[in-house]
Amino acid sequence: MSLSPFLNNLLTSYQAAPSADNSQPCCLSWESPVLILGYDEERVGSYTFPYDSQATLLAAGAALENILRCCEDAGVGAEVTLFPEGEGSNVYAKISLEGFEAVTNSVLPDSVAARHTNRHPYKKGAVPKRLADKVENFGSEVGVNVKVVSRKADIALIAKQVQVASEIRFQTQEVHEWLEKSLRFTAQEVERGDGLDVETLALPPGGGAFLRLVSCWSRMKKLNRIGAYKLLAAIDSAPVRNAPALLAISASDSMLGGLNAGRVMCRAWSYLNAEGLACHPYYVISDQLERLKQDRVPEVLTGQAKDMQKNCQPLFDLKGEQTLMMLLRVGYPKKKALRSRRLSLEKVFKNLSDN
Ligand SMILES: Cc1cc2nc3c(=O)[nH]c(=O)nc-3n(C[C@H](O)[C@H](O)[C@H](O)COP(=O)(O)O)c2cc1C
Repeated sequence: MSLSPFLNNLLTSYQAAPSADNSQPCCLSWESPVLILGYDEERVGSYTFPYDSQATLLAAGAALENILRCCEDAGVGAEVTLFPEGEGSNVYAKISLEGFEAVTNSVLPDSVAARHTNRHPYKKGAVPKRLADKVENFGSEVGVNVKVVSRKADIALIAKQVQVASEIRFQTQEVHEWLEKSLRFTAQEVERGDGLDVETLALPPGGGAFLRLVSCWSRMKKLNRIGAYKLLAAIDSAPVRNAPALLAISASDSMLGGLNAGRVMCRAWSYLNAEGLACHPYYVISDQLERLKQDRVPEVLTGQAKDMQKNCQPLFDLKGEQTLMMLLRVGYPKKKALRSRRLSLEKVFKNLSDN
């Protein structure tokens, strides 16, 4: 059964949301007039973050934000119930739409279409204060802090922590194996529509072959004996050190905090992209902070992870139960980024309705 142009745009908005390693962990179902946003355990549970992890909540929050942006643009009322089955369930939101049938003319919101990841180097030009001030207010109503860092000395201190977190990351089997499963090297692999197309990673010549070599954990483990993790972490963190600005998003360390942070992240990222700025998320610090809390950092590396945690508190103004949710590198792009693909709609959406 065919959907109205508005519902089709809403689904495109939902699918356009960012996710860690482009895993697209959500599923959406439609039982008119209600949308249900949840986690697709069956499809992604074995190779990416679980339903209650910060990374998944950020992706779910981003998908929710894009859906609500589409409703707002079309003048459709949306009544949202977060965690309708409680926080222990993998259903994130129920969204009841009012008056959607009356929408005859619908276009995809510009900011939704503009948002994407750009991993190329950026120009040196500063992020205009007017834009920085604006995004810093995006999370104030939901307890999400958005901080724009543009002082060179502060950026260098944060880049150092990205490097430390990245060194831990390249010595962590589980994260490395997830990456291996996410990488898409051939046209046929890219065709699947999920995962990381290596062409979007802005690698230097020969970078793809090198990545293929080190993406296998047993090989990486051997290469780590001669310090490969240090080299990779230095390469990974260099763009942060050279960034004109960083955007740090922090919120309470809870499921609601993660979901709200995802909404605010997507709003800020879309807004900046629509204003001509490029953004590149770095999740590595947040991931290691969460792993540390859950005792999932390899034992020999917990000392380094704890030092990193201590160093991050003043850098990101983390107080009480707050944690860093996401860090983004921001600046004017030197080069257009190749857009990443999406899964076909039937893999991420179920229509349980007649209209
Ligand atoms: C929670 C989360 C974590 C991410 N972490 C990283 C990261 O550490 N490095 C990176 O290059 N991209 C990261 N990304 C960006 C995704 O890889 C990207 O959103 C996805 O591939 C889809 O591409 P698009 O943003 O261009 O639509 C992250 C995105 C999300 C939502």
